[in-house]
Amino acid sequence: MNPKVDHDLCIGCGVCSDVCPDVFEMGDDGLAHVKADANCEAAGCCQQAADECPTEAISL
Ligand code: F3S
Repeated sequence: MNPKVDHDLCIGCGVCSDVCPDVFEMGDDGLAHVKADANCEAAGCCQQAADECPTEAISL
């Protein structure tokens, strides 16, 4: 899986970084970013983060 955050859709709610902090982090711009060393398979929470994002900004 190759997680991506669409910054045109992200509203910075922070759900993804709460649900899946090994993969997503909040940036200084107030939007979610995929961590450089993100590993969806190891983290096991990317799908949940994508499902719970209110604006469907996360693609996998
Ligand atoms: Fe943004 Fe969705 Fe995360 S709105 S902060 S990508 S849960």
